[in-house]
Amino acid sequence: MNTPESQKYGVVVITGASGGLGAAIAKKIAPDSKALILIARSKDKLQKIQSELRQANPRTKIQPILCDLTIAEHRKRLIADLATLRIDTLILNAGSGVFKKFFEAKYSDHLKTIELNIIANIDLTYHLVPTMNSTGRVQIITSHSNEMRIPNFSTYAPAKTFATLWAQTLALEQKDTPMKFSIICAGAMATEFGPSAGIPKMVSKIATPDEIAVKCVRLLDRDGAHYLTLYDKIIWALNRFLPRFFIDFLIARIQARYIK
Ligand SMILES: NC(=O)c1ccc[n+]([C@@H]2O[C@H](COP(=O)([O-])OP(=O)(O)OC[C@H]3O[C@@H](n4cnc5c(N)ncnc54)[C@H](OP(=O)(O)O)[C@@H]3O)[C@@H](O)[C@H]2O)c1
Repeated sequence: MNTPESQKYGVVVITGASGGLGAAIAKKIAPDSKALILIARSKDKLQKIQSELRQANPRTKIQPILCDLTIAEHRKRLIADLATLRIDTLILNAGSGVFKKFFEAKYSDHLKTIELNIIANIDLTYHLVPTMNSTGRVQIITSHSNEMRIPNFSTYAPAKTFATLWAQTLALEQKDTPMKFSIICAGAMATEFGPSAGIPKMVSKIATPDEIAVKCVRLLDRDGAHYLTLYDKIIWALNRFLPRFFIDFLIARIQARYIK
């Protein structure tokens, strides 16, 4: 039963909540939230999740908001709406990429990748955090691909690297304030991410979004960057300690073997 004492995450905003990891986090956090604001572009998917969450959590207010986070005007309206609430928990999860060689992808897709994975996060953080409960928390979902040169992801992977470094710097700057900043360097998950990026086949054994969501919620009050699975931690270590040419070689082998 969702009593006020159990509503420790308060008013929660999740971007990219119409599916994948965002929807899984919403499901996990809803019983401990006062209100849940779900942001994405797909009306039908958001409504379906809203009704599922309402049924399971009758005391939590569930509100979907349609917004294309790559459009500055949409973000401006969203920020104006959200700034009137006193948000306790902001989860910046929306992200996508296009898996193609640089010149084969549309130029507009490169721009959208940068707008969604970098600019939208900066925009929402800059304008919403000052309006939030000062003892609140911000979580930013990035990728374990930090600082890797990944062919076919020439814009997405560097965008996630930027997002990670920016969020880590922010967490450092804010470390003496009560606000928490956690960064999730996520690895491969069985979501729509792969198919919508155009990845023909993902590695066979990957985490489910429900497994990852449990860890994300658990880490909401832990500052800094987090690599969640053993696989992510190994990638972090290899990337940190092996020479870059060797990482390039490994990525080429993995792409040749698993992505056909
Ligand atoms: N899955 C993986 O293998 C993987 C690996 C590393 C990192 N990540 C990161 O994990 C996060 C979650 O991804 P996921 O795997 O859950 O992917 P997903 O299943 O494709 O979900 C992405 C979410 O973002 C929303 N979204 C996409 N474009 C948007 C836009 N322009 N405006 C507003 N919302 C938008 C989508 O909703 P609508 O389409 O309804 O707008 C959806 O709710 C992302 O940041 C991704 O980069 C994923």
